[in-house]
Amino acid sequence: MEKRKEEKRLKDKDLFKVVDSTIDAKTFLILQDLARKYEIEEYWGAVSSGKEARVYPAKTYNGNFYAVKIYYTTTSASKRAIERYAFSDRRFSNLKTSNTRKIISIWAKKEFKNLSIMHDNGIIVPKPIGVRENILIMEFIGDNGIRAPLLKEISKDEVSRELYDNILLQVELMVKKAGLVHGDLSEYNVMIWNNKEYIIDVSQSVTIDHENSQLLLKRDIDNINRFFESCGVEVDDSEEILKRVWIST
Ligand SMILES: Nc1ncnc2c1ncn2[C@@H]1O[C@H](COP(=O)(O)OP(=O)(O)OP(=O)(O)O)[C@@H](O)[C@H]1O
Ligand SMILES: [Mg+2]
Repeated sequence: MEKRKEEKRLKDKDLFKVVDSTIDAKTFLILQDLARKYEIEEYWGAVSSGKEARVYPAKTYNGNFYAVKIYYTTTSASKRAIERYAFSDRRFSNLKTSNTRKIISIWAKKEFKNLSIMHDNGIIVPKPIGVRENILIMEFIGDNGIRAPLLKEISKDEVSRELYDNILLQVELMVKKAGLVHGDLSEYNVMIWNNKEYIIDVSQSVTIDHENSQLLLKRDIDNINRFFESCGVEVDDSEEILKRVWIST
């Protein structure tokens, strides 16, 4: 019995290639559970750590990788952001709660739902795999646990008018097919992989009937224009783009 316990402990420890102090006990237990469910052999060290979440590669027994996004459960910053967006989104308006863990899990669920709608409508996003509490599992964009570069990170001569058009097409499909506005689009939330532009980080995306959707869309377009312009790409007028991609209702 003691031996079995010891073996189990070793196995659990082995699940993490790099121990990470930001993973609390409860999150750790869920990660163990998810490992069983999705046949994950080990979690690798984070490919990014930001204000609201960290993203980890997870290697499966058959050598595939998932991206595991873990939202911090303690930061007041995430709590504020969530209150700002989630509760003005009518899909989540009946979920008012003051419990941070619960709020974060709503946030993760929201990102999963937005990813699912986008993916189902043919927008290039990481395929959503699962969500549990503060943890979202999705397709890993990159190779062998090494993440693909962000738009921000590719060399300037790869930043072309074609890429610009392709990204704006994703924005248009998002509005017209998925009925969503990204809301935080920039060179930091697009990954370039296999000649495709993956739109990521969609937790704050809102439905087009959201009171701020047009404003957010305009900001998204302005961000993309500003980035491409700074790389010497000729861009379209943002008001023109807005007219083009918005649905006339
Ligand atoms: N599916 C994925 N595959 C590989 N890497 C990913 C994936 N999704 C996100 N990443 C990496 O993790 C980073 C953070 O992800 P994301 O933008 O979704 O979170 P965030 O909330 O913006 O976090 P931050 O607080 O750092 O801004 C991305 O910039 C990217 O480098
Ligand atoms: Mg981001």
